Amino acid sequence: MPDDAPHPKHEHNPLTFPPDFLWGTATSAHQVEGNNTHSDWYDWELKYQPPNKRSGLASDQYNRYTEDFKLAKDMSHNALRLSIEWARIEPEEGVFDSAAIEHYIKVLRSLKEKNMTVMLTLWHFTLPKWMADKGGFENGKIIFYFDRYLKNIIPHIKDYVDLWITLNEPQVYAFLSYYAGYWPPAKKSKFSLLAVTYNLARVHKKSYKTIHSLVQNAQVGIAQNNSSFDQFHKHSLREGLAVWFLDYVNNHFFYQLTSLDTHDFFGVNYYFNRYISFNGESGGRLPQLVDVSTTKKEVTDMGWEIFPQGMFDTIMDLSDYHKPIYITENGLASTNDDRRCRFLIAYLQEIFHAIQTGAQVKGYFHWSLTDNFEWADGFNPRFGLIEIDYKTLKRLPRPSAYVYSTIIQHNGIPHTLLRFLGHTVHADEVLSLEHSCPPGLCPVAPQDLAALTYQQA
Ligand code: GCO
Repeated sequence: MPDDAPHPKHEHNPLTFPPDFLWGTATSAHQVEGNNTHSDWYDWELKYQPPNKRSGLASDQYNRYTEDFKLAKDMSHNALRLSIEWARIEPEEGVFDSAAIEHYIKVLRSLKEKNMTVMLTLWHFTLPKWMADKGGFENGKIIFYFDRYLKNIIPHIKDYVDLWITLNEPQVYAFLSYYAGYWPPAKKSKFSLLAVTYNLARVHKKSYKTIHSLVQNAQVGIAQNNSSFDQFHKHSLREGLAVWFLDYVNNHFFYQLTSLDTHDFFGVNYYFNRYISFNGESGGRLPQLVDVSTTKKEVTDMGWEIFPQGMFDTIMDLSDYHKPIYITENGLASTNDDRRCRFLIAYLQEIFHAIQTGAQVKGYFHWSLTDNFEWADGFNPRFGLIEIDYKTLKRLPRPSAYVYSTIIQHNGIPHTLLRFLGHTVHADEVLSLEHSCPPGLCPVAPQDLAALTYQQA
């Protein structure tokens, strides 16, 4: 039966996305490549993290990218967001490693050969050790060094990149690395937080100009950690004001600091809904995040609330700027893959509604293609559509990978998948239901998973 024909049993129409919508996943180099030995993170992990929280070989994507990209392509992804590693390209100050550059040319070219749209992040939390030793983003000279890195790498790779992300989640990095003391260099200083935020903004502005001078018609943006905020008590005026203020600082301030005209699009990493209340430790003086573990909300393995409507709110909050929006990250840590399937469908449904309401959402990059190294939290959080068996480094697609593939093949959510929003449905049940779909639109049957797994030489 054609997908858009009325269905005898269900009233639902398929939720069809705009033509040319980008469907993919997002990763970052340090989290998957392995052996990032010249970076500040690798160094910090060796010094301060227990062995099970060191990136080590990660998922060895540096050597297995062919396998990973083949899996993405076999699952009908038409785009990928990934990052390159400054610490490999310039392992020593002023020394550019031609083997590393050659490697990234091969990596990016192989995606283009698969006809995939490439979104490239130029900085995703890690620095060359030598740059960190000079003070990293606390040192204003990083504007010069980062620019020199761009000028030495972009001419080699520009033909294989479609969308450029200068910085990933600048404010998250400034906060966790320089204020919360959770990430390297583990500082706890208000002054450093401000200085680093300011220098990140300067790096973005300079990079925006440089990329445009090197690449004709470049599309340049950042990936920002946008969160939705909600007041815990519906009628509290001060909670309402706090929500307004936090929304501004978290979701709008950095665009103002860098000036809106240095963003050709908005990259949205959406993970968090924040409930704000004045109850709590501060004795009612300061707004506080409500601990969701006390509110009976559904949470991920990392305790992050699952709140699909927040995706809609976040997109609509940005759509007044009238710029294209890419969901550059969205996903969950979960060993319960039925939960991941429901998550995918529920969040995509909200994106669909935002598009219907007029938002210019152009693509969705699920975090992540495979399980990976979750920074200071190590390897326990499982974010992948594809499981990594860390003993053998085997790639094992989860049912959610096939659910996502089915969505991509339909360019939207077929009504059979909407059943997933009921909590009792399991992935294989829905996938077998899907087999009544027209030839060419059928997902791969779960029993055929092994056939899709790349055969290792
Ligand atoms: C971030 C990063 C990713 C994370 C992902 C899951 O948000 O910290 O962009 O590197 O791995 O968001 O936490």
